[in-house]
Amino acid sequence: MVTGAAEASFEIRRAVPDDRAVLRRIRVEALTDAPYAFGSTLAETIGRPEQYWRDRITAWPQFIAWAGTEPVGIAAGLAEDPAHTEDPGQGASGSWQLVSLWVSPRARGNGIADRLVAAVGDCARADGAECLTLWVADASVRARAFYLRMGFRGTGRRQLVRPQEPDHWEEEQLLDLS
Ligand SMILES: CC(C)(COP(=O)(O)OP(=O)(O)OC[C@H]1O[C@@H](n2cnc3c(N)ncnc32)[C@H](O)[C@@H]1OP(=O)(O)O)[C@@H](O)C(=O)NCCC(=O)NCCS
Repeated sequence: MVTGAAEASFEIRRAVPDDRAVLRRIRVEALTDAPYAFGSTLAETIGRPEQYWRDRITAWPQFIAWAGTEPVGIAAGLAEDPAHTEDPGQGASGSWQLVSLWVSPRARGNGIADRLVAAVGDCARADGAECLTLWVADASVRARAFYLRMGFRGTGRRQLVRPQEPDHWEEEQLLDLS
């Protein structure tokens, strides 16, 4: 169990291509722990080739939280404007989307998620974005409490988390970055 006293030893670093095995591992851990929280499935994530992870790191900012040499959390962000999706982070966009937020159960309650969201928010601001959006599943009760504390508010838009699961909904939320 990682304790609050150890918070100062956590470090948030932007992933580089050499982190691709770590990124794959942490996404597999996230989808094993909280399959209800994400649009991707564990099966499709396990089947992704190495090139997918390399491309993901170079296409969008991916932040990994480290407790020493142990990866304990992740968040990523991308510009929402379709004009920027092929080259996110390379121009002003009104809005960025926060995706993939997950903190290992043994490290929760230590402020790591706050710092991961701040890292994505800083990237979005640097790109000229005015707001950060996300989709959160109705089933993600702890995440909803966390986003409320962070200042995110529902936009009223709702959609299915996965088209083949009719009773599993998610809500769009938005944080004003200005
Ligand atoms: C969402 C997540 C990253 C937040 O990180 P965290 O370290 O748990 O966040 P915090 O502990 O700072 O905040 C969680 C909040 O939920 C509250 N909480 C804890 N357990 C809860 C529960 N069972 N039900 C409701 N709220 C709960 C906490 O009290 C805290 O609220 P507070 O800050 O107002 O006291 C983490 O819980 C996680 O990885 N969850 C699974 C994946 C997920 O849902 N990701 C979001 C994808 S959109």
